[in-house]
Order: sequence, then C-alpha cells, then structure tokens
Amino acid sequence: MPTNPTLNLGLIGAGRIGRVHAENIALRIPNARTLIVADVDEAAAQRCADEFRVNFAVKDYRMVLDSPAIDAVLICSATHTHAHLIQEAARAGKHIFCEKPIDHNLTVVDAALAAVDAAGVKLQIGFNRRFDANYARVRRAIAEGEIGAPQLMHIISRDPAPPPAEYIAVSGGLFLDMMIHDFDMARFLLGSEVTRVYAAAANLVDPAIGEAGDVDTALVTLTFANGALAVIDNSRRAVYGYDQRVEVLGSAGAVRTENNYPNTMLLLGPERIARDLPLHFFMERYQESYRAELQAFVDAVLNHAPVPVTGADGRAPIVLAEAAARSVREGRVVEIGE
Ligand SMILES: NC(=O)c1ccc[n+]([C@@H]2O[C@H](COP(=O)([O-])OP(=O)(O)OC[C@H]3O[C@@H](n4cnc5c(N)ncnc54)[C@H](O)[C@@H]3O)[C@@H](O)[C@H]2O)c1
Repeated sequence: MPTNPTLNLGLIGAGRIGRVHAENIALRIPNARTLIVADVDEAAAQRCADEFRVNFAVKDYRMVLDSPAIDAVLICSATHTHAHLIQEAARAGKHIFCEKPIDHNLTVVDAALAAVDAAGVKLQIGFNRRFDANYARVRRAIAEGEIGAPQLMHIISRDPAPPPAEYIAVSGGLFLDMMIHDFDMARFLLGSEVTRVYAAAANLVDPAIGEAGDVDTALVTLTFANGALAVIDNSRRAVYGYDQRVEVLGSAGAVRTENNYPNTMLLLGPERIARDLPLHFFMERYQESYRAELQAFVDAVLNHAPVPVTGADGRAPIVLAEAAARSVREGRVVEIGE
C-alpha cells in the first residue's frame, strides 16, 4: 500500500497506448509518476522513458514486478500478454490497470480474475469511453431519471478506415476487438445486464477482411434485464470519419450525443452548408478520457476506494462478444448463460 500521496507506477508496453498513458502521467496526473517502463522492444521503452520523464527503461517486465518501489502497474502490452501479466502482477502484490481486452478466452480471463481476488489487489480495465464527457453525461441522465425509464438505445460506432488484414488476423474479430467498447458502453449507460443477443454481420468494406475470416459490418440487438432494447451498429469504414454517437429513448424523453469536431465552423454556400469532418480517430476523439480513466485509477488506489471499472466489467463484454459471434455463426438469438 502506498504511504505517500504520489503513486509510483510501472508501465509494461511502450507502444501506441502505453505512450498515451505515459504522457498523461508525466504532464496531467500530478499525484502519480512512472518509475520504470518495460518493453520487449528495449528501444521503444527507452524512447518512452526519454520523452515522458520515466527513470528507468528495461526489456524485462519482471524488473517492474520485482521492484518494491512500484505500487501499481499499467499493462499496455499486446492483448495476448494481458492475462498472464495480471496474474504475475497480482502475485507480486501490485495494483493493476490493464488495457482491454483481458483476453479472448473466458477460461483464461477467469484465471486472471481469480489471481486478483486471491491477492486482494485492485484491477481496473481500460474502458476509457466511460470517462468521455458525452457518455458520462448520458449515463447521468439515465441514472438520475431525466428520461424516465430507458426503453430503446442506439449506439453508433464506426471507424474511419479498416485496419490492415494482418491486424484483423490476430484481433479476435470485430466483436472482441471493436464492438467490445460498445458492449461495455451499453451496460454502462443502461446500468443493466444483457440477457439475449441477436447479431447480423457482413463483409462489405474490404474483401481482405473476409479472407482473414472476419466481418467488417455488424448490427447487434441486445435485450436487457430491465426490459430495454438496444442496437449497436459497427462499421470498419465510414468515409466521412470516426462516427461515435448514442441515443437513448425513455418514458419521459430522450438523450443523444453528436460527434466531436476539431472546430465549430460552418461554411455557408448557395447550395449547401458544410463543416469539417469529425475528430479523426480514437486517439483524437477520446484523448481526454484516457487521462480521466487513469486519474480515477490513481485516486482509487491512493484513497483505498473501489475502482470505477472492475474485472467483472472487463469480463462481461467478452461474454457478449462471444454470444454475438455465435449468433452470426448459428443464425439465431443467443441467450446469455444458455
Ligand atoms: N482503450 C483503448 O482505446 C485502446 C486503444 C489502443 C490499444 N488498446 C489496447 O492496448 C493494447 C496495446 O495496444 P497498442 O495499440 O498500444 O499496441 P502496440 O503494438 O502499439 O504496443 C504494444 C507494445 O507492447 C510491447 N510488448 C509486447 N509484449 C510485451 C511483453 N511481454 N512485455 C513488455 N512489452 C511487450 C510491444 O513491443 C509494443 O511496444 C492492446 O491490448 C489493445 O487492445 C486499447
């Protein structure tokens, strides 16, 4: 347990998202610091250390877990490493922030969560969108009854362009890789659990994605325990840019959000009114949410308070992703827990 008001962190994985977290800690999270960064690519670790005021760069993550100075670790390495790193960090008595997803396999996920429980450490999963100002406000509107009882929800989540086929091949598929954020958002916004899933999916964007055995376009219908219905709409390509919106209809009104734009300019001409495209992709659109989720983790550990996104929250969307994939495969409604 930390005994001072600054949390000492070790970062494992200095790639795209690890660097985002390192920068936030260095510049925007005053009560935490990164003492060690580990990456199997030692040059990447060193670059991260140089740029973001980290004391040590190492190749082997065990040096992070063995250090008595480290209170908590941020697991930002490739997905297939998360579950075993969670287990080892828990055994070393470190609190854990782990990027999504925990793993693609529920048995592996459960072993990791059991290790966390046995060690009594905190585990927060990186569902950053919960910390986005738009979605947090929609959650509050629903939780505080501003729209009455929620009845219908539509989550739109479309990427600007598909990733390369090599990425798709190891991604776990659209439901685990992309829609996992939206499954989490659906549970978060409605504050209820999903009971049934029906999914339709197609390969309409890029034939290479179909050849890699995945889909790039999907509509999933969810039924919730509280009676509400939801639709999640995912595409790997919206030609006008990153499209991230939600609308919830309730018995006393509705709530909805629009995309975020780099500016509010409208260009007014004789035939049409135009504006610039939405913020390009997740690094731009969700930038502030990455800071806010990490600040919440740091504060939870320092204050001995519960983390806002738990291991169970990390597990639930994996169950839904599996159910959606099964629904497509078998062409039927899948009951959760069947
Ligand atoms: N929450 C989000 O919005 C979000 C966004 C991007 C990525 N992610 C997740 O973060 C994880 C990393 O994604 P990324 O885009 O940063 O990938 P990346 O490939 O850019 O970075 C991963 C880094 O981990 C390192 N690494 C791999 N195995 C390691 C090990 N055993 N020990 C130490 N370092 C190791 C690699 O060398 C690489 O530098 C993935 O699980 C991804 O799903 C989440």
